Amino acid sequence: MNVPARPTGGPGLPQERRLVTEVPGPRSRELLARRSAVVARAVGTTLPVFVAAAGGGVVVDVDGNSFIDLGSGIAVVNVGNSADRVVAAVHEQVEQFTHTCFMVAPYESYVAVCEALDRLTPGDHEKRSALFNSGAEAVENAVKIARAHTGRPAVVVFDHAYHGRTNLTMALTAKNMPYKHSFGPFAPEVYRLPMSYPFRWPTGPENAGREALAQAIDLLEKQVGAENVACVVIEPIQGEGGFVVPGEGFLPGLAEYCRSKGIVFVADEVQTGFARTGDMFACEHEGVVPDLICLAKGIAGGFPLSAVTGRAEIMDSPHAGGLGGTYGGNPVACAAALAAIETIEQDGLVERARHIGDLMLPRLRALQEQHGIIGDVRGRGAMVAVELVAGPDDRTPDPAAAAAVSAACHAAGVLTLTAGTWGNVLRFLPPLVISDELLDDALQVIEKAFAEL
Ligand SMILES: Cc1ncc(COP(=O)(O)O)c(C=O)c1O
Repeated sequence: MNVPARPTGGPGLPQERRLVTEVPGPRSRELLARRSAVVARAVGTTLPVFVAAAGGGVVVDVDGNSFIDLGSGIAVVNVGNSADRVVAAVHEQVEQFTHTCFMVAPYESYVAVCEALDRLTPGDHEKRSALFNSGAEAVENAVKIARAHTGRPAVVVFDHAYHGRTNLTMALTAKNMPYKHSFGPFAPEVYRLPMSYPFRWPTGPENAGREALAQAIDLLEKQVGAENVACVVIEPIQGEGGFVVPGEGFLPGLAEYCRSKGIVFVADEVQTGFARTGDMFACEHEGVVPDLICLAKGIAGGFPLSAVTGRAEIMDSPHAGGLGGTYGGNPVACAAALAAIETIEQDGLVERARHIGDLMLPRLRALQEQHGIIGDVRGRGAMVAVELVAGPDDRTPDPAAAAAVSAACHAAGVLTLTAGTWGNVLRFLPPLVISDELLDDALQVIEKAFAEL
């Protein structure tokens, strides 16, 4: 087989949807065969093509097909793939040194990332940060820190939550299949409360904030006891759970309750952080100031980096040497993070995320008018979703329709993701640098997929 010239990714890639073969094409099919011979089957694939380059709002495969990217590698490349500043910073760093381990011999970029997190995260209190590799690792460490601070064992989480796939974070994650099934036993002292889920709230969306808060507090007190709770961990907008935006007042009320009981309030902003929702962090929308905030994904333009940032007195509770890891805060990932953060700030990507929401939400609501299976359109900024159900008067989840629309989008050159406890949510997470033209084209493909369902 002839190997084509290696394409260069980044924003210079032609920003177009282009299909030159069937999907997957012959080169991808060849690689899929190699893959199935050596890669464990439990590692899934959403779009069965192999990537050759990506940048701006497109992903180009090894057959030369160019897909509009509505996934951002699951909310990671908010600044776009191979973004200019990230590429330059990484080049410079790899030529200097690639690793020393910050716990062995420190370097400036780790400190600079912590300074940036201090400045950017909600609240003007004194803060400290610690850097890790993945979102799950950040959440695990937030629980360790909260337990060390409070001397209490219990961790409280919510229905539909997703916090990762390590043993502790599997326990925190709600959904059995595919995340937990056959992988137990799970960590103890984890308690789950009802989530404020407006579309499915029994007495109507307008009550989802107030009533869910009252229920959550009541259950926490009756079944766990506030004095036993180290932390409450919550995604300000649930990601894998289906972009569930809690009812107004739920998050601030929960944070306030935690403060009154000495419970550490942990915001898992792994998916919502770094401009995704049209605020730098989703908590800001209702003025919530978390005690600890977990960050990953969008922090470093595609490099593995995560962080826990929070109140100095909580963060400094664990003993010296109690937190860390070989690669946590790797210098290449830190260089990428500083460049990604600069890009978000200099290029106005918070505003850009709002603009994307302003473009997408009305179009999706108009689509809802035409198709009774679109039960709900929700989200903020560039984190928007539609929940598919049996019909206008029947909220039975319809995962088959979500899979069919997603497959039709893939076949037409648009990379979409699904989510939700029932798998019936189509979620859209475009890179924040995507052009209006590409978004419009992607929306037309989605509209056509619904029309032909
Ligand atoms: C809210 C949230 N928390 C934690 C995680 C786990 O992050 P990672 O996959 O980097 O371990 C994710 C990943 O999707 C997430 O969305």
